[in-house]
Amino acid sequence: MSKNNIQHIKNINENNRSKTLIIPVLKDKKFSIDLLDTNANTLLKDTLLNECISTNAEITVLHTPKSLFPNFNYLRIFCIGLGTINESDVDSVRKSAGSLGRYFLNSNIEEVNIFIDSLKLFDEDELIIESFIEGFFLGNYSFDKYKKKKPKNNNFFEITSTDSKLEINDIANKSYEKSEAEKNARNLVNEPANFLTPSKLAEISSALSNKNLTCNILNKNECKKLGMNAFLGVSQGSVEEPKLIHLSYKPLPKENSFWYIGKAITFDSGGLSLKPSGSMFSMKGDMGGSAAVIFAINAIANLGLKVNIDVLCLATENMPSGSAQRPSDVVEAMDGTYIEVENTDAEGRLTLADAITYAKSFDPKFIIDVATLTGAASIGLGKGNISAFSNNEKFMRNVKNAGEKSGDHVWQLPLDSVSKKQNNSSIADIKNTGGRLAGTITAAHFINHFVGEVPWVHLDIAANSMTSSNDGWHNKGATGIPTRLLIELAYIFEK
Ligand code: BES
Ligand code: MN
Ligand code: ZN
Repeated sequence: MSKNNIQHIKNINENNRSKTLIIPVLKDKKFSIDLLDTNANTLLKDTLLNECISTNAEITVLHTPKSLFPNFNYLRIFCIGLGTINESDVDSVRKSAGSLGRYFLNSNIEEVNIFIDSLKLFDEDELIIESFIEGFFLGNYSFDKYKKKKPKNNNFFEITSTDSKLEINDIANKSYEKSEAEKNARNLVNEPANFLTPSKLAEISSALSNKNLTCNILNKNECKKLGMNAFLGVSQGSVEEPKLIHLSYKPLPKENSFWYIGKAITFDSGGLSLKPSGSMFSMKGDMGGSAAVIFAINAIANLGLKVNIDVLCLATENMPSGSAQRPSDVVEAMDGTYIEVENTDAEGRLTLADAITYAKSFDPKFIIDVATLTGAASIGLGKGNISAFSNNEKFMRNVKNAGEKSGDHVWQLPLDSVSKKQNNSSIADIKNTGGRLAGTITAAHFINHFVGEVPWVHLDIAANSMTSSNDGWHNKGATGIPTRLLIELAYIFEK
């Protein structure tokens, strides 16, 4: 879908392209629309009085053929229930809209008009409209690159509001950029690892660069010169060359940046600490953090936000081979820390260690790292929240607030001194695993060792990056979490 395919029209009865009308319906608020056709008005009025169609996420189709509705432009009306105004919020509205977007995936309908006047009944009407449009676009996602027979996606949207004061174009543009970014992130996570190698990820990132967004790629030798042995140790078993990817958006020349770091393991076999095949299957998605930060900065630049952001991804595979890193190897990280590699499958934190040291050399205002880091994150919190850690309560609050806006909910876990000890090594400064207990926390402690005093938030998205079923605005496969959270965070930083 392209941005030019979204249009704002003021009059629902205009002779427009769309033959399909979408109307969000609230249970306890009736509103009237003048459809210029007596039959259509009666049909809609009588239907809107029917409670069944206003249940949350309920989809009702009213057919309005020309023979019966001669003065009506549309051939069908999709009513999407939102429940009562009190039980609705940005999340529930995004969910309902997501179900509708998904319903449209196989519908052959290409042009739709979304009539949003009912959403103006909410106090926070602009936010609700934004999440409705966003939810619809996100639910309307499918990864069909490798299917000969592709579902026909909707590719033309009209958005109608009779309120001329409402800045529909701005709202639609923001919703478009956010959902497009998340869908692009999903595409990368859904891509198989034989396509999405570290070099390919670097190439895709370079292709995003323009006059506002710069991209710098370092190769293996350049990383070697910087002393990134923790990162390179992970990559040494693979035939694919590792890449350091650095994207930079600096609209404010004199200010330091907020750094977004993404874990970028394009395939995690576990290395010599090989994963069982059942756990290995989804490991093409072990670059979910990098997908989110890369497309977040791209959207932030497109939206022209006045905030400096740098993105860093240390991309590599984690493979077993004769040249692979061994369990029990010791590597000297870029900051001089000696790390005992107890388990080669705890590779993400090794790459993040050097990423953080590299970022720190640019004097960042704040670092957020996003990583599919530990299976334990799903055991601890399930899929409903992202596991988060921080050394700075103010930034943690900002990240939580951004998550509430985007629907990527965040739950903070402690960095307690008891579990910190589990990373103690008997022969080196630190080891890369902390045993079975509190696996998500010991991984965060490991990263914290390299962060030091810089304000920092760590998001472990291992539980959230992929889903096995359709739900709300997520479809089976990659979720693209937390791309929109990172964009909302930039809005918060801008203030
Ligand atoms: N990429 C995995 C974590 C993961 C698991 C992501 C499931 C998505 C879904 C990570 O590199 C890993 O293997 N972690 C180990 C750490 C352990 C060896 C300390 C884990 O969670 O088992
Ligand atoms: Mn691993
Ligand atoms: Zn991993």
